[in-house]
Amino acid sequence: MGLFDLKAKVYKPVNEVNLGADSDETYIHANVKAPRMAGILVKVFAWLLELRLVGAFIVEILKRNNLVHKLVSFANVSEPPLFTPTHAWEDNVEQQVCLIKSNSTPADRVAQAIDCLPERKENAINNSGSNFHRWTIKDYYRAYCSRGTTPLLVAKRFLAAVKESSEPNLNMSFFINYDAEDILRQAEESTLRHERGTPISVLDGVLVAVKDEIDCMPYPTTGGTKWLHKARSCTEDAYCVRQLRSCGAILVGKTNMHEIGAGTSGINPHYGSTRNPYNIDKISGGSSSGSAAVVCAGLCPVALGVDGGGSVRIPASLCGVVGFKPTFGRVSHSGILPLNWTVGMAGILAGTIEDALITYAAICHHIPFRQPTPSLPEITFPLLTSTNSISNIKFAKYGKWFNDSTEDVRSCCENALDMLCKHHGWKTVEVTVPEIEEMRLAHYATIASECTAALAPHLAKLDFAEMGWDVRVAYQVYRSFHSREYLNAQRIRNRQMHFHREIFKTADVIVTPTTGVTAYPLQSDALNTGELDYINGAALVRFMIAGNFLGLPTVTVMVGCNKEGMPIGLQFIGRPWSEATLLHLAYAMQALCSKSYKKPMVFYDLLKKEELLPRNGMTKA
Ligand SMILES: *[C@@H]1O[C@H](CO)[C@@H](O)[C@H](O)[C@H]1NC(C)=O
Ligand SMILES: *[C@@H]1O[C@H](CO)[C@@H](O)[C@H](O)[C@H]1NC(C)=O
Repeated sequence: MGLFDLKAKVYKPVNEVNLGADSDETYIHANVKAPRMAGILVKVFAWLLELRLVGAFIVEILKRNNLVHKLVSFANVSEPPLFTPTHAWEDNVEQQVCLIKSNSTPADRVAQAIDCLPERKENAINNSGSNFHRWTIKDYYRAYCSRGTTPLLVAKRFLAAVKESSEPNLNMSFFINYDAEDILRQAEESTLRHERGTPISVLDGVLVAVKDEIDCMPYPTTGGTKWLHKARSCTEDAYCVRQLRSCGAILVGKTNMHEIGAGTSGINPHYGSTRNPYNIDKISGGSSSGSAAVVCAGLCPVALGVDGGGSVRIPASLCGVVGFKPTFGRVSHSGILPLNWTVGMAGILAGTIEDALITYAAICHHIPFRQPTPSLPEITFPLLTSTNSISNIKFAKYGKWFNDSTEDVRSCCENALDMLCKHHGWKTVEVTVPEIEEMRLAHYATIASECTAALAPHLAKLDFAEMGWDVRVAYQVYRSFHSREYLNAQRIRNRQMHFHREIFKTADVIVTPTTGVTAYPLQSDALNTGELDYINGAALVRFMIAGNFLGLPTVTVMVGCNKEGMPIGLQFIGRPWSEATLLHLAYAMQALCSKSYKKPMVFYDLLKKEELLPRNGMTKA
């Protein structure tokens, strides 16, 4: 009777689930029952939830109404739990790749990545006409080598641009922290190396921004909060930051993010809400909001983010840039805030697939994090010079899921996919990816449990008044999960691992829209309190979960815009360790769509065309 009177789901054994197009599995549309709240409403709601008994009661009602009880908490699952999404190394048969030596340094790997890139046609830049062009890592390198400009000059332009973007008329809120002196010092050192003709790699003098969840000296790591850096100090660079520095990259500061990554809008009441450079009245998406927006606005060709529930790919898609999250374990976790363990990992935001590859080359490593496998995964890079000769690619598409997006997103993604298949003679196969909503809720229970455990040691010192209202609400829901719910979630993880392994026997990648909606309006009532918008939130994470819960590599690339000019992304989800194929396919997609890319409303040109050409009278180093 009452609260717990519900028919919990009894899951059938995995081998009885039909994964074909003719499957009778039901697709559950996320039917989120929670109204949007902002301003005073969020405050009242947070207060209610923080009342011991009343709060616990409301949370259980919420979990019941949103099917958490039915599909996770009280469900009957026969598979044993699987606690981490680690994958044994499999030697995927990948076409057109080069194998990277296991003892290579980041700079060696970056050099090998460069060898995989096609020469950009000179006239692509010179006669850009109506085409919009983003400066790439190679453009910066060329400008530095030809002495057209210097890292120091670019760093100064960067500082002026950030200043301009922070003025009240724009109020972009890109960064939580940046230190002009530290940036100029790095730029001077890089300028000297270029003058001497001894740059370390193509990344030498290239500006890279880092999400404020990743340790990077000399900054504190706030995680978008007002308190976390007081409880945990940052004493050295995270491993991935160290790798970038060793290639000569200039680290330009800590980008804004959704507080502790506990949301997908990028609205942050403490440091300002990052605005979308395509339209400053829209959200940028989150939680790696600043990292996506700085790349979109031309301030850096690449930035680092962290992706625990789509946190790299969502803002990338909403801001029209590339978002790339490699296989779980491919990038080190060392020096990244441990907000959750088994779903999050650093990822890359970049203006182009080529730049995502170069950055990946710098930060990937051979010894995966907590890998139980006896043989170490090999690293391969895609030979982007020969994408055209890749044959026989099969995209798995689950129509009901693919269609569960707004009409502008659905049609744009479908057209892009058709164009890609037609152009290369590739195929789409209809499949059924079962239990999508079940997986979303199981992932939620997991990330919630991990986040609660991660914050537990700090609770004694934690003053709730220092937390944003939306995060206070999220925290009350997060802490409500019990061991039974957690274990059921891990059993669902086991099922999904099985389903995905099976699907990858019939197709190379799974293709989906990246998000179910495009960037939505940033409403003023949310600026100080944050907002609760679980309906849009569910649409943003709808296609994200396999990348986190199952640790699969994923990439999003922009394929067009809606009528309002807001970007739309298409996502590829790959087999474990198939980063090279994934980048190949995304590169092919980018090649067909990039002509239609438009310049964002807020965009800074940190290079000038003429700076790429050798100067008169100067000899090339
Ligand atoms: C989980 O951690 C990842 C990175 O570790 C982060 O991107 C994400 O926002 C975190 N989410 C929560 C809810 O803690
Ligand atoms: C998805 O939408 C398209 C266009 O409306 C339609 O042709 C197709 O049948 C739909 N697929 C499914 C599985 O609903």
